[in-house]
This record gives sequence, C-alpha cells and structure tokens, in this order.
Amino acid sequence: MNRFSRIVGTGSSLPGEPVSNAELVSRLAERGVQSSDEWIVSRTGIRQRHFVGPGVTSSQLGTQAARQALAVAGMAASEIDLIIVATSTPDYVFPSTACLIQKELDAPGGAAFDVQAVCSGFVYALATADAMIRTGIANRALVIGAEVFSHILDWNDRSTCVLFGDGAGAVVLAADTRPGVLAARLHADGRQGDVLCTTGKISGGEIVGHPYLTMNGQAVFKLAVVVLDAVGRETVAAAGMTLDQVDWLIPHQANVRILDATAKRMGIPSERVVVTVGQHANTSAASVPLALDQATRDGRIKPGQYVLLEGVGGGFTWGAALVQI
Ligand code: ACO
Repeated sequence: MNRFSRIVGTGSSLPGEPVSNAELVSRLAERGVQSSDEWIVSRTGIRQRHFVGPGVTSSQLGTQAARQALAVAGMAASEIDLIIVATSTPDYVFPSTACLIQKELDAPGGAAFDVQAVCSGFVYALATADAMIRTGIANRALVIGAEVFSHILDWNDRSTCVLFGDGAGAVVLAADTRPGVLAARLHADGRQGDVLCTTGKISGGEIVGHPYLTMNGQAVFKLAVVVLDAVGRETVAAAGMTLDQVDWLIPHQANVRILDATAKRMGIPSERVVVTVGQHANTSAASVPLALDQATRDGRIKPGQYVLLEGVGGGFTWGAALVQI
C-alpha cells in the first residue's frame, strides 16, 4: 500500500501585544538610533511585530503552537512519535528545543531533534519528517518552527533590528494512504554563508565571535528572489504539476518586496500569495508555518487545495514543499 504524509492540523503562537513601527521607532530613538514608520513600511512592508518578554524561549512558543496543532488534529501528544523543531534561536546549546518541547508535552519515547537551516528551517524540517513518515520510521510528527530572534538583534543596527519578530508555528504530519506532501526540494550554498549570519559561539566559558545577526541586505534580496523562483518551479515540476495549478504560494515572509518580486517571476497573481510579513515581520523558521496557520484559520486555504511552501535564509539555504491540504 502507498504510504504518504499529510498535514492534519496547524497551530501558532505569537507572544504579547504587537509592537507597531511607531513604538519601535520611539524605543530606538531613546538609544539614539533613527528610523521611521515610513522607511520601514516602504522598504519592507512591515507594520508591526511581536517580541517575547524576559525569560520567554523558543520552546515555550513552540509548545503553545504544537498544542494548537494537536487540538486541530484531534490528536493526543502521546500519539506523536517524532518532533522536529526548526530554530536558529534554541533555548540551549543542548538539549535540543525539540526535546524540551517533548518534555513539556509529556510525550516521551519518540525521536526529537532540531534542524538548523535558519529561515528555510521549516521547509527543511517538513521535508525530513515527510521522508521519515514515508519510509516508516515515524507515523505522526510535530513539525515546528519556533524563534526568538529578538535575542540576537543588535538594537543599535537599524538596518536589521526593524526587520524581525518572535513567534512559532506548527503542523501535525500524519501517515496516510493519500498524498499530502507531494514533493519537496532542498538546497544550500555554504559559500554564501557570510551574507546573513550570527557567528557568536560559546567557547571556554566566553562568547567568541559576534553574538548579533549581521546581514548584507541587498545581496540577500538578490539571491532570495532567484532561488525562490527556481526551487518553486523545480518542486512543482517534481510533483508533475504546473504553477497555474498552485492555489496558494506561501514564501518565507522576509520582506514584501521579495514576496512581490518572487510571485511576479513565477507568474503567480498576488491574490494567491499569503502575506503576513506586515503583521509578524520576519520570524525566520516560524514565518511559513505562521502564515500557513493564519490562512487556514481565516478560511482562505481550503481542503483539497495545493499550497507551495518556500523557505530561504542563512547558510545560504533554500527549499520548497508542495502540499495538498
Ligand atoms: N530606518 C531608516 N533608514 C534606514 C534603516 C532604518 N531602519 N535601515 C537602513 N537605513 C538607511 C541606510 O542607512 C541607508 O542610508 P544612506 O543611503 O544614508 O547610507 C538607506 O537607508 C538605504 O539603505 P539600503 O541598505 O541601501 O536600503 P535598501 O533599499 O537595500 O533596503 C533592506 C534595505 C530592506 C534590508 C533591503 O536590502 C532588503 O529588503 N533586503 C532583503 C533582506 C531581508 O529582507 N532580510 C531579512 C532577513 S533575510 C531572510 O530572511 C532570507
């Protein structure tokens, strides 16, 4: 019998009240850093973001998103035999954020590990869970993107600190005889690692390297648009389909201009693109599952529809998965 994986529940978590551009700009002004709502909206489309309060971690946000996804799936945490968490902002060096979430959900016994592919992380994690389910290693997986990027932002660097937010999104992926994940493709080019990185590490009891995110914005922009177009086409073709059959495009939510340029290159009209970057800013590995959950809950994405999920980010990494809901 054919064995596939299907998304059977989605969930998300956004901490606290949204922080508007005006509020962020005024907080930055107190430190002598100048920005404006007009600059942020016109360059990025971002209007607000959420930030965690003191002590709140990726595993806490990820656990909340996971509980929501399990509730939608009508599944108990004890039925989960695989947890993969995509994060670049784990609670600890180890244990993994996935193990912390497994403990919090009181669902011991299955496999649990983190995936580190920055903003492509959720698509990498989904493709990994799909392969593990199809090959019989797992039956029911939680795939989670969870980030607290506010922990690695340099508030004196206006070119990066206005772009990111915190949050988590999750899906339950379950074995099925009908296909849900139709195709997935993953790529990386380590030679481009320095366009977007956080090089800090703990060594000998000290932080060595730079503990904040740094980015060459224009280089990222150019790379992102090219690879999102290419991997989207590659993935849809691998499923034996064409781009006009895709009901919804959900690219990584970095910047509205990247989303617009990608959709244009792919010939997908803007009405079929899910855009949440205005409300969430860039939540790295959480951005795609957050957007998927939002568009599912508000009724835009309907059962049976084809959704193309795309990630791109540090590493440099990129990937896509075509799923039928
Ligand atoms: N407020 C006001 N002015 C600013 C700000 C700010 N927050 N940030 C930068 N500026 C200024 C710069 O200092 C510069 O001023 P100058 O001309 O006097 O030197 C001016 O704005 C233009 O700066 P650029 O970097 O050239 O601006 P650009 O038009 O390239 O936009 C941006 C910057 C938005 C980062 C753009 O390059 C971009 O969208 N890049 C894509 C990267 C991205 O979205 N990264 C997200 C993470 S990557 C990922 O998730 C895959």
